[in-house]
Amino acid sequence: MSFLEMLDVMNEELVAKGEEPIAFDHDCREGICGSCGFMINGVAHGPERGTTVCQLHMRHFKDGAELYLEPWRAKAFPVVKDLVVDRGAFDRIVAAGGFVSVATGSAPDGNAVPVPKKNADLAMDAAACIGCGACVAACPNAAAALFTGAKIAHLGLLPQGQPERYDRALNMVGQVKTEGFGSCTNIGECEAVCPKEIKLEVIARMNRDYLRASWTQRGDRFRDDGA
Ligand code: SF4
Ligand code: FES
Repeated sequence: MSFLEMLDVMNEELVAKGEEPIAFDHDCREGICGSCGFMINGVAHGPERGTTVCQLHMRHFKDGAELYLEPWRAKAFPVVKDLVVDRGAFDRIVAAGGFVSVATGSAPDGNAVPVPKKNADLAMDAAACIGCGACVAACPNAAAALFTGAKIAHLGLLPQGQPERYDRALNMVGQVKTEGFGSCTNIGECEAVCPKEIKLEVIARMNRDYLRASWTQRGDRFRDDGA
């Protein structure tokens, strides 16, 4: 039985007894939508690495084990009910710049824009982020750096993302501050719990793009090493 199926069974029992079921978020139940997620015994998404709560199975727990479930805890993710939090802050960060503006028209030829293999692989790795929020919940600063870094990196590594690359970093990082997330101090808890195993490197890329954008805004010179 999966962890969410266990909650389904528990909720059926609660409803049969006339009690309130436990509220939790879910949708795809196959690790791709990012809806599910809460703390299990103090660990975001539970004890298995690279696994969302919906992909977690009860066989990973001992019979009769006592489990403590808590919602994500971060000021920017207000608790809605039980295990459900409002992650609208992530949507607003993406709306601030997590896109590529393109002139509409027919679809371009697949090979019209060559992308180096290394960059394509890194962009795909960053694009694996499902926006679950575990990185924020695990961070002692409640920083959204891994999420935002992933969104900035997956576009910034591709040719199509270059025209808006530095404005994107400025706007998205600005929105992170507006939403009330904390600052990253390189603790690395986010990487440890991320179900998609997004690497801390995306935070370095975000910081570099943000610094370059803000120094350029101030008229300072920025040494570009071509990375
Ligand atoms: S970086 Fe990882 S933990 Fe954070 S939102 Fe994306 S998938 Fe979830
Ligand atoms: S329900 Fe979609 S990732 Fe868990």
